[in-house]
Formats: sequence, structure tokens, C-alpha cells
Amino acid sequence: MSIEPLRMIVAGAGGMGRAWLRTLAADPRWTVAALVDTSAEALHAAGESFAVPVERRFASAAEALERAPADAILVATTPETHHAIIVPALERGMPVFSEKPLTATLPEAVAVLAAARRSRAPLMVGQGRRWLPHIVALREVLQGGLIGEPGYLTCQFRIPFRFGGWRDAMPEVLLEDMAIHHFDAIRFVTGRNGARVFAHSFRPAWSWFQGNACAGVELLLEGGLPVSYFGSWVARGPRSSWDGEVIVAGAEGALLLRDDESLWHYPGESETPRQLVVPPLEPVGLARGLDCFTRAVRGEAPPDPDGEDNIHSLAITSAAVASARSGLPVDVAAHLHEAGWRPI
Ligand SMILES: NC(=O)c1ccc[n+]([C@@H]2O[C@H](COP(=O)([O-])OP(=O)(O)OC[C@H]3O[C@@H](n4cnc5c(N)ncnc54)[C@H](O)[C@@H]3O)[C@@H](O)[C@H]2O)c1
Repeated sequence: MSIEPLRMIVAGAGGMGRAWLRTLAADPRWTVAALVDTSAEALHAAGESFAVPVERRFASAAEALERAPADAILVATTPETHHAIIVPALERGMPVFSEKPLTATLPEAVAVLAAARRSRAPLMVGQGRRWLPHIVALREVLQGGLIGEPGYLTCQFRIPFRFGGWRDAMPEVLLEDMAIHHFDAIRFVTGRNGARVFAHSFRPAWSWFQGNACAGVELLLEGGLPVSYFGSWVARGPRSSWDGEVIVAGAEGALLLRDDESLWHYPGESETPRQLVVPPLEPVGLARGLDCFTRAVRGEAPPDPDGEDNIHSLAITSAAVASARSGLPVDVAAHLHEAGWRPI
């Protein structure tokens, strides 16, 4: 029995939108119902590359939602546009797959969650580090108890990157665009949400970003697990990988994640590590995210991460920005409450 492919509206035909168009093209379970971009140049260039007929290219998501029959929408536009695209889609009962960050602000994310709770349509967030083998392996060994009860975690991210475009003007580019990946990965591997955040963000003199491209964050996770985080998008000297160099120290040893691929175990007080096997994931990367979303749309499995989960990653980022601005520690639960969030 052949099943009709699902129909996806893809909003955003820039870097990430194209990455998702490639992923959709490789998955026979999907077709592109419509492509949306406010930039005619980006819209038509991607439309040509991915053979989306001209009549299915739109300048606004509202128009695509109105005119293109579809089963879901994938949102890969710039963050400040997510809320205005996602809420009307959910109000139509349409499943939404949004790139990170779910929204540009925490109150907007609360409004999106409210719409998702009303509609009951699946809402999944593209927090793609969770779909990588080394992150899943770190979670497995940590939660499997290899190093006993964790005592602290450090994460150092150092990559000089020149994007150009909207990121160059973001006031808190490191915290809001990149560190949310690290905070989400930390939540994912430890299984703990943020409790308190004390952050300092800054712009080194040589930075090519207008906003703060560096930040140090002291994050206390629920259950009293301290995290020391440093991120730089204008790094000098030794570089890290995209997930940063992550060390988790525990009662019975330590784990080191390096180079976005290798995982090392230091038993007890030993300084000599042994490399752990990182089992392959199939599917992996964006294909894994799309597979999970597909099953959610078909009602076979919950989206992972869904909006209810992801708001706790956004809350750490938002609390870090608030702390950096005030110079004071921020209680994450109170910060979520002030933004209007309530548990289900
Ligand atoms: N998961 C990841 O690893 C990852 C990596 C890069 C970007 N992202 C996320 O993907 C999203 C897009 O980032 P990008 O790097 O592709 O940016 P980009 O600038 O390359 O593309 C964004 C596109 O959205 C279009 N756009 C802006 N407002 C719009 C609107 N209201 N309606 C329709 N189109 C609109 C722009 O014209 C542009 O073509 C962001 O949320 C970003 O955080 C995620």
C-alpha cells in the first residue's frame, strides 16, 4: 500500500531553510507544498535549486497557509519572525517544526506554547545537537552512571565565525544564537533544567560583531549541579568544536567530549583516559530530526524536543541575558513565571 507523501511548507529559504530543503528532498515521506521568503532573490534561487514551482512560492507564510494545502510547516526564518509565523499555523491545527530559537523572546515562547496547548498540534524545535551520536552517547554514559553522581560540568566554546547578515547586529549574539545549543545539550545530557544563572557578556575590542560575542555563564542546574560555561565567537588561539569542549566530573571519574566526535573516560582520579565507543545513530543529524517530526505528525511518537521541553533551554538563555544586563543572578523558575509561563 503506497502512502501519499506529507506536504511541508518551508518558511525561510536562507542557509538553514536550504539545509532543510535538502533533507526533505532526500526523504520520500515528504514533498514541499510551498516555499516562503520575504526576499524574492532568496525565494526564487532556492525555488529553482529545489524545483519548487513558481506558483508555490510565496512572500509571506500567511499567504502560503491560506493558499497551499499542507500537512505541516517548517520555520527557518530569522528568530524575531518565528512567533508571528508559528501562532497562526498552530491556530489552524497545523504541526510546526521550528528552528531554534523557538522565538526571539521568552514571553513570545510562552504565547507559542499557549497556542500549541490549545491546538494540540505537534510543536517541535530544531535543537539539532540532540540528533548527533556523541551527544546521545554522552547522555547514555552519564545517565548510565559510569562516573557516578556528577559533581560539576564545564563547557568551553571557542570558534571565530564570520556570518555577515542579521547576526552581526544581535545585541547578545553569543548567548541568543549559539549558547542556546550548548544550554540545550547540557540539559539533554544531564536531564536537568536550569535553576539559577549568573552571566557576564562582553565584546572584545577586535570583535566584528556589533553585540556581545563572548559570555561567561555560571549556571546552577536543578539538584545543585554547577555548570561553568564560556563561549566566544571571536576566539583567538586554540579553537574548540561546535559543541565545545565538555568535561563532566563525577564521584567515580570524569568524561570528556572533544572534537564533536570523541568521548573519553577518566576512571577515578586517573589522568589517563580511555576512549569510549560512540555508537552510530541512524538516521543522524537533520534526517533524524525530520524522522522524529514525521512520526509526531503521523501520531506515532511525541516530538522531541517539543515546545514544552524547549522553553527550558530558552529560559536559560533569556535568564543569562537578563543577568548580563542587571549584573545580578537570575532565578530561572521566577524568570519563567514573570514571562507568563505556567506548567501544564
Ligand atoms: N540548528 C542549527 O544548527 C541552526 C544553524 C543555523 C541557523 N539556525 C536557525 O535557523 C533560522 C534561520 O537562520 P539562517 O542561518 O538560515 O538565516 P538566513 O539569514 O540564512 O535565512 C533566513 C531567511 O529568512 C527570510 N525571512 C526573514 N523574515 C521572513 C519572514 N517574515 N517570512 C519569510 N521569510 C523570512 C530571510 O529573507 C532569509 O532568506 C534561525 O532561527 C537560526 O537560529 C539553526
